[in-house]
Amino acid sequence: MRLSGLTCVIADTADSAVHVSNILSFGLLNVNKQLERAAKMIADAVHPVSFSGAGLSAESGIATFRDRGDEDALWSKFDPQKLASQEGFLADPEMVTAWYNWRRKTLSEVQPNSAHLALAKLHGWTHITQNVDDLLERSMDLSGVDVSPILHLHGTLLEDHCNANCGHTELIDLSCAPALRNCDCGSYMRPSVVWFGESLPAQVLQTALQKTEAADLMLVVGTSAQVYPAAGLIDIAVEKGAEVIVVNKEPSGVNGAHVLELIGPAGELLPQLMDRLACYMPE
Ligand code: OAD
Repeated sequence: MRLSGLTCVIADTADSAVHVSNILSFGLLNVNKQLERAAKMIADAVHPVSFSGAGLSAESGIATFRDRGDEDALWSKFDPQKLASQEGFLADPEMVTAWYNWRRKTLSEVQPNSAHLALAKLHGWTHITQNVDDLLERSMDLSGVDVSPILHLHGTLLEDHCNANCGHTELIDLSCAPALRNCDCGSYMRPSVVWFGESLPAQVLQTALQKTEAADLMLVVGTSAQVYPAAGLIDIAVEKGAEVIVVNKEPSGVNGAHVLELIGPAGELLPQLMDRLACYMPE
């Protein structure tokens, strides 16, 4: 594994508490010790993967979906059946398209945060995400590293495709996405995001499964781990005995003998983790 742009710094910890899932064995330990422990686990990993969710982009100003206690979480304000299902789209395609265009506009106005920039330093990793934004790609671009392919399990806001799956796709300019329109085949164009009741993109899921099966470490960032089959990748990693580090604002419910949970904002914890990791890496 290579790292770029890192210097070995033992940073001051923020207010974040750190919690080990296997609390009976480890108890609540000092945040520094836990970051050290996580950094050592990462340094020792041969086939590491990251698995992220909406919490990764939260500090950029992108709303999460089901953040406990956050009234701005999308699914506490909007009805997913109306906005993220085939039935909802066919019932009101203009409204659904406008809602995704509002999310696209927001995405065009925000920047990668320090959590994205920290992940961008992990060269050679497989990055699997449930996020439909391009902030991780942008963070790699900003960091001047090769933009490694990111496995978007739930699709992307940067593309539309034909709702009848005739094969037609269009790239979308986030800042001025087109209103509802028809495909040449007569069906509607729709955002290339996965809606409830739909299958995940087969090739992406297959690659993510293969990489997870082969992984000896999974770094999980900012997900409620409630939406399957995506969250099943965490279960696979836990069940096969990979080291699993969870960075989340609240306890994620991911449990297992090899699970280390760091509770706090990813934008604070991941940079601190990278600082410590640099101490283990050759110049
Ligand atoms: P959720 O909104 O379900 O969960 C976000 C998680 O991130 C929560 O556990 C928060 O506590 C945590 N979080 C929030 N801010 C954070 C921060 N700054 N640092 C660290 N953690 C933070 O989002 P996902 O798990 O990604 O599906 O949701 C999965 C899927 O459900 C989404 O991909 C979406 C949605 O329906 C589609 O769009 C198809």
